[in-house]
Amino acid sequence: MKPDLSVSIGGLRLKNPVMSASGTFGYGLEFAPFYDISRLGAVIVKGLSLAPTPGNPPGRIVETAAGMLNAIGLQNIGVERFVADVVPRLEDAGATFVANIYGKTAEEYEQVAERLSAVPSLSAIEVNASCPNVREGGMAFGATAEGIAGLTARVRRRTGKPLWVKLSPNVSDIAGIAAAAEGAGADAVSLINTIMGMAVDHRSRRPRLANVTGGLSGPAIKPVALRMVWETCRRVRIPVIGIGGIRTAADALEFLLVGAAAVQVGTANFRNPRACVEIVEGIAAFFAEEGIGTVDGYRGSLVL
Ligand SMILES: Cc1cc2nc3c(=O)[nH]c(=O)nc-3n(C[C@H](O)[C@H](O)[C@H](O)COP(=O)(O)O)c2cc1C
Repeated sequence: MKPDLSVSIGGLRLKNPVMSASGTFGYGLEFAPFYDISRLGAVIVKGLSLAPTPGNPPGRIVETAAGMLNAIGLQNIGVERFVADVVPRLEDAGATFVANIYGKTAEEYEQVAERLSAVPSLSAIEVNASCPNVREGGMAFGATAEGIAGLTARVRRRTGKPLWVKLSPNVSDIAGIAAAAEGAGADAVSLINTIMGMAVDHRSRRPRLANVTGGLSGPAIKPVALRMVWETCRRVRIPVIGIGGIRTAADALEFLLVGAAAVQVGTANFRNPRACVEIVEGIAAFFAEEGIGTVDGYRGSLVL
């Protein structure tokens, strides 16, 4: 029996629960040489802003013992070029795609969301309320329940698209912040973004990142992400999308087990460009082996 991997994220049906995480998969097209990107639940594109943004100066990436630090600074081509040049190619590829967005101000978030709402083939908007690497990258909104509620409500009024709010782990009560997003009209929350970190060179006595601090991602953050997703699943009724250090199908299954409705895979794409699709195959193989027919037949079944 072939398991049905489809999942529902607040009314949006995805063919499977595996998505690429924003900022680690370009605009999706970069991965088309490696496999058919329409096989993913969804492609989440690099964070888009109103105007094109060059990002931070180099060094922007440092490898760490079990992951990486980045301070890209939300480099992107801007929403207009995305709509004109990238969207038609994602449509041709048959991909389900979601736009990750950010702004320097709440107005800018609204404007980007409104512009993208006019793109019929776009499946959802994911608001990055959590980037630690630019002063205006959403952390001002994402750090408190009031901030997240205000931003979510404002974007909600400007779009009829499914609205996902991506949360920062650099807070003391992530479940409370998720509940605030839910209360303000989010259709789903995605978590976690990167954890604030730092790397220095003991010889040159200089920081390794031009930005000095950066966001830690990869296997190192998985236990933290899993705990935060578990806590949030117990607190909110909207779907929770689990992100953080997922590298294998077993990692993805762990997030589903604690209640996530779907997952996103980030840093693993740099090591293995086929990571996402191999995780889809691995979940299907596990379900077939265990006689599990649907994702809902497994999700949230953690035995305590
Ligand atoms: C190089 C890089 C760029 C990223 N850019 C974005 C971004 O533009 N928007 C966003 O919401 N998250 C961004 N992230 C965060 C990831 O989407 C993801 O939440 C985080 O890396 C944790 O997942 P992982 O451990 O699987 O990488 C970025 C991460 C990395 C490593």
